[in-house]
Amino acid sequence: MIGPKAIIHLDNLVHNYRQIKKRVGDVPIMAVAKANGYGHGAVPIAKTLQDEGVEFFAVFTMEEAQELRANRIDSNILIFSRLNAEFAEAANDLDVTLILSQKDDIEILIDLYNRTGKKPKIHLKIDTGMTRLGIAYKDARSVLELIKNSQEINCEGIYSHFATADEGDPSYAKWQLKQFNNVLNIVEELELDIKYRHFSNSGAILNLPESNFDLVRVGMLLYGAFPSDEVPQILDLKPVMQYIAPIVTVRQVEKDVYVSYGGKYKTDRRTHIGVVQCGFADGLSRPWHENGYVMYNKQKYKIAGRICMDQMSVDFGDTVPNIGDEVLLMGQNDHGAILAEEISQTISTTPYVLFTAIGGRTERIFVKE
Ligand SMILES: Cc1ncc(COP(=O)(O)O)c(C=O)c1O
Repeated sequence: MIGPKAIIHLDNLVHNYRQIKKRVGDVPIMAVAKANGYGHGAVPIAKTLQDEGVEFFAVFTMEEAQELRANRIDSNILIFSRLNAEFAEAANDLDVTLILSQKDDIEILIDLYNRTGKKPKIHLKIDTGMTRLGIAYKDARSVLELIKNSQEINCEGIYSHFATADEGDPSYAKWQLKQFNNVLNIVEELELDIKYRHFSNSGAILNLPESNFDLVRVGMLLYGAFPSDEVPQILDLKPVMQYIAPIVTVRQVEKDVYVSYGGKYKTDRRTHIGVVQCGFADGLSRPWHENGYVMYNKQKYKIAGRICMDQMSVDFGDTVPNIGDEVLLMGQNDHGAILAEEISQTISTTPYVLFTAIGGRTERIFVKE
């Protein structure tokens, strides 16, 4: 198929996993594979990591968990989205773990048990400052007491999520951690037997190792990018995704010729304009055109004018590229490197947004050397 390709280097995924393992020591890694493995392809990502010994995965929806189970991912799977009565029933049969994030969820679980005798595994989510899902800090004690007194709830884990772990100033994250530790003291006081306590994400692994507890939930570092430019870049990461697209035509144009929508780009000399078959509908970020470039034979070539829905133009200068050759749009290969971190900084976004946008007509090709 002619069009953009995401070459997924599973060997780099394994490399990154081993780097993270070195950092966290014996603490098991819960690999976060939601949103199609951050755009990388959840099933091959999970299979590769499972073969490496990963015993915990996290996804966002029940459907994502079902996809992994249907493809022989037998490890534990935690579903991050808010629990609901319908899928709570399926969770037990699929042997996946749900989160309990508000008081009403307890009623759903009690009702499920009374109707069916089913008792899915749950992890209790405490909101320590993200103000998204989670039991409010002030309600933690009463919910823990309810859990202690109800036979219908199988609470295997307790966790929270950082709002700012990847930022240079650790004060808010430290405050969240303090709140979580206070809640863990209540767990001890009530003599609740909860197997897994977890808090760290990629940012915290780099910034706040004291929050690693019994499990770390890692996404971005596995995919080979740092979550922000404010974390210490202390791991040797390799980009897992290499995003490429073919040159489908080239023509010579004169000086002062406008290129693409809006006439935002005007040639400043006689030059070669190539058309690359990848557009914003495939996930390439449109604002990148202003300062963005592609790599071809170790040279940078400026994106010429606005990225269109399905294609984009590139100013190749005096170079006459071969039709059918593929240019590098993001990642690293023989042409050079354009890291997601660099694009993110240039257009004020994050690698999370860049990776999960990759889709459209992009063909994913999985390689392992
Ligand atoms: C609850 C939760 N834990 C962990 C992660 C993983 O974060 P990261 O990719 O920064 O490691 C996410 C990702 O958004 C998340 O929502």
